[in-house]
Amino acid sequence: MNIAVLGAQYGDEGKGKIVDLLTPHFSIVARYQGGHNAGHTVYVSGRKFVLHLIPSGILHEGVTCIIGNGVVVDPQALFAEIDELAGLGIDVGDRLLISDKAHLILPYHRELDILSEARRGERKIGTTSRGIGPAYEDKIGRRGVRVCDLTDRQALADEVRENVQARNQIIKDSTLDWRAVYDELLIQGERLRRWAGDVSLFLDRARRDGRRIMFEGAQGTMLDIDHGSYPYVTSSNASIGGVCTGLGVPPRAIGGVLGVAKAYLTRVGEGPMPTELFGELGHRLRESGQEYGASTGRPRRCGWYDAVAVRYAVRVNGIDAIALTKLDVLDGLETIDICTGYLVNGAPVDELPADIAAAGDIVPVYETWPGWSAPTKGVTRFEALPVEARRYVARLEEVSGVPVGLISTGSDRAETIIREDQPLAAWLR
Ligand code: IMP
Repeated sequence: MNIAVLGAQYGDEGKGKIVDLLTPHFSIVARYQGGHNAGHTVYVSGRKFVLHLIPSGILHEGVTCIIGNGVVVDPQALFAEIDELAGLGIDVGDRLLISDKAHLILPYHRELDILSEARRGERKIGTTSRGIGPAYEDKIGRRGVRVCDLTDRQALADEVRENVQARNQIIKDSTLDWRAVYDELLIQGERLRRWAGDVSLFLDRARRDGRRIMFEGAQGTMLDIDHGSYPYVTSSNASIGGVCTGLGVPPRAIGGVLGVAKAYLTRVGEGPMPTELFGELGHRLRESGQEYGASTGRPRRCGWYDAVAVRYAVRVNGIDAIALTKLDVLDGLETIDICTGYLVNGAPVDELPADIAAAGDIVPVYETWPGWSAPTKGVTRFEALPVEARRYVARLEEVSGVPVGLISTGSDRAETIIREDQPLAAWLR
């Protein structure tokens, strides 16, 4: 069966480890949205890998990795990643396929990203400054440059000239020369060509041949352009719909949906986060969870598990099971809170407000659960968890409305519990 693995919170849920762990059960791993704003950290035998654009499946021999049309590709960042992997002894070779319909992030997209943030001032989004938003703007504005455009020199020259001239009008004193951008693109196109192709067709054939596919999401549901905390979102569909539009596969291709959620909550960048903890507790979660952005190194905002947001992600994505990560970070806390509802302008609410960023005054409603003193770190069987940790997980299942099929108790592959009685284990058989 093919499965989608996506974020059920605000990104950084630990999808990298989960995708890496499950990859041996699949022959293809396909990214469908986002770009090198993502940072998927994987530890293998104590070695740390941070992947931004290439699916984490690349660390497994024989697995084909796909970058779909829904992804925005910065060729420079892609080549840097390929070279870095080569330096670590991992040859991307012919195991990478990039959609020829994927849009490119061009050098001026980064500048426009930074400029747009500066113009927003107090209302800034807190983007990763990777040019993601401006690249998607050009895509939707029908003036983007795609991988396949790199082969038609004349059309490319026209597109780049018009785009650079328009951009020079926006950025005062800019002297960017369209020819320099064009020449660079031609060089990049030469190198990219060997990996470019028809992703939709490839995946269709793979499905007919019975090859199993894992669809890998980046960011999280609350950062989705349509369903997230707009405007404090990324510019793509991180939620389930992105799989179909971002790869050219039909909904029937998705057999199961695994939502990844941390046992608490983090967010990078600006925007609402009702369960955010300030002071000592927030600091403690940040330090014990090493909550610093994998792409930008920014400290992540930390808070309690927000079941309102996860329930929402379950509904929007049709999540069948949750992979619960970083349970061990909660080790040693005396008590742990779970947010089960909100008070919005004083009125109780248990569904996520349609427009959370404009909802007004949101106060989380908490239940307080006892913590545990025996460590969960490295535990590999559910029954071996302290009873309080098992109760905490059981309560998260109730309030989130979905079973927990996998629990991560440390950063290494081995530090994982797969629950045999839950949907995920059946999918993998
Ligand atoms: P952008 O994707 O760089 O435009 O950033 C938009 C928002 O999404 C900002 O709040 C970023 O911090 C956030 N964001 C983008 N990528 C990630 C990610 O991979 N993990 C967590 N947050 C992200």
